[in-house]
Amino acid sequence: MSGRIPRDFIDDLLVRVDIVDLIDSHTPLKKTGANFVACCPFHSEKTPSFSVNRNKQFFHCFGCGVSGNSISFLMMLNNLDFVEAIEDLAAFAGIEVPREENTHQTSDKKEDLNSLYQLMDQAAEFYVQQLRTSDEGKKAVEYLKARCINGDCANEFLLGYAPNEWKALANAFDHSALIKAGLIVNKEEGKIYDRFRNRIIFPIRDKRGRVIGFGGRVIDDSLPKYLNSPETLLFHKGNEVYGLYELLKKNPKPPQILIVEGYIDVISLSQFGINYAVAALGTAISQAHLNLLFRFSPEIVLCFDGDKAGRAAAWKAMEPVFLSLKDNCSCRIMMLPQDQDPDSLIRKEGLTNFTLRVKTTQALSDYFFEQISENLNLSEMEGRAQLVGKAKPYLEKLPDGVFREMMLARLKKTSGISTLNTLTPHQTPQNSYPEKKAIKSSTLSAPAKSARTATALLLQNPRLIHNINKAALNWDHLDIRGIDLLKDIQQVILSKNNINTAVLIEHYRNTVHEKAVKALASLNLYVSENNIDMVFADTLKSLLKQGEYATIAKLETKAQNQGLDVHEQQLLIKILTDK
Ligand code: UTP
Ligand code: MN
Repeated sequence: MSGRIPRDFIDDLLVRVDIVDLIDSHTPLKKTGANFVACCPFHSEKTPSFSVNRNKQFFHCFGCGVSGNSISFLMMLNNLDFVEAIEDLAAFAGIEVPREENTHQTSDKKEDLNSLYQLMDQAAEFYVQQLRTSDEGKKAVEYLKARCINGDCANEFLLGYAPNEWKALANAFDHSALIKAGLIVNKEEGKIYDRFRNRIIFPIRDKRGRVIGFGGRVIDDSLPKYLNSPETLLFHKGNEVYGLYELLKKNPKPPQILIVEGYIDVISLSQFGINYAVAALGTAISQAHLNLLFRFSPEIVLCFDGDKAGRAAAWKAMEPVFLSLKDNCSCRIMMLPQDQDPDSLIRKEGLTNFTLRVKTTQALSDYFFEQISENLNLSEMEGRAQLVGKAKPYLEKLPDGVFREMMLARLKKTSGISTLNTLTPHQTPQNSYPEKKAIKSSTLSAPAKSARTATALLLQNPRLIHNINKAALNWDHLDIRGIDLLKDIQQVILSKNNINTAVLIEHYRNTVHEKAVKALASLNLYVSENNIDMVFADTLKSLLKQGEYATIAKLETKAQNQGLDVHEQQLLIKILTDK
């Protein structure tokens, strides 16, 4: 749809907005020494361990370990994705976000989308009016009453009615816009007619409340029972869930979210007081659905009908579930009794019993092992081997973390195979500094320690780049662990017009260095502001020395074992005479 946000703009924004002002406007900060502190907005605590540094434009919580720049702060605080956070940050600074692309085309497209959103809004309003005021709409109201959906709920979910006419919408709005919105069907010979006729209308809103599509249910026995908007510029079924906007309005940080199947289920649960349910839009639950919901809640309960189709759908959900289960996220599987859906069940057994069902429902791990063990004889070796074969492809999908380890441990225990090390690693990024090691200096050699100090100092004070230029480092001699990152950071700083720690952190977002860079940015080196230049220069000097010693040692060993070539010979002489 719209073009990329230029990298330069993001860098400028991170230099222009002061993170202290930004965070202070959400969480009042107190100045202590060089930093500003507050109680952490991301975990509950009584004494402040959340610290914001103006020079680095960086925050870090010593309690829960979160850290990042202004963009990361907004993403975490308001559950935003990257682009949304940049938009909000730009709004905070009072500037527009530019997009890469021909500007003329971009503003046309933007115009297009805006008018499409507007049309969807007007159509929703049209259907609401039909439900409330038209004679025909009375049928629909009767239907809703018969299903015990009250007026408040109908208002909250913006329920409407599409009249039993071929051109109710078509006569009221522009045709080409209605076609783009998926609201009229364009038959051959230019014949057009309304997509939704004689149906209760359920507007589908995105998480910001904009209407992006519609569902429609018949009010008699005709088929199909439900119709949904087709894919349009605004509506992508696999990415959206029904009821999320309504949920977040009442419950911005729900401890859990329940995914059910139908529109009516969401509405009916809400009416009974379960304000944490959403529905997948008549499609299978996708990884995009889960990722979206995990941004708002740490636990997702997937609810399925107790029939054969429901059981099949539950098992089918395992793939997207396993792919999206990062640490601190969990899933539960809730199978309903035969012939019940959430709507019928909550009416039958009431809020308390239904809530108890949600609370006590099966953990994903139990469901998974129960399912894969079904029909296997685990008292025989063959059965246990089959178990491993069935489980492995799923466990391999799990992101690295404690849950993956525990699932693996359980598989080992259940199968009796103690050496199950054949899982393909999910990801093993080759960090030059794995995060823990970057902090724990005791495990580093002296040269690696200097490299770490130099990298952290440069990252925290990009102005030091001048000292590097002055020191005229010969990188060839520096075959030291961690040196690549230092070199890389140097290149990044040289390539930017505007620079601070926040810009560097931004540069490494979603790269293999991300963790290391964040850890080094918050590493306390106990160097006072006045001494930074001196310490950095000394570190570079000792880095260079250590590098040279290492090169000399390497060359001397080689000289004794296999001899040096001309080039190596010259290099050795040069280092020794330069000293
Ligand atoms: P169900 O058939 O289980 O209906 O469809 P329901 O939710 O219980 O609806 P009521 O109680 O009969 O009114 C579940 C969901 O599957 C999608 C819809 O999103 C529906 O809410 N669906 C169903 C369709 O998209 N098309 C259909 O023809 C049927
Ligand atoms: Mn139903």
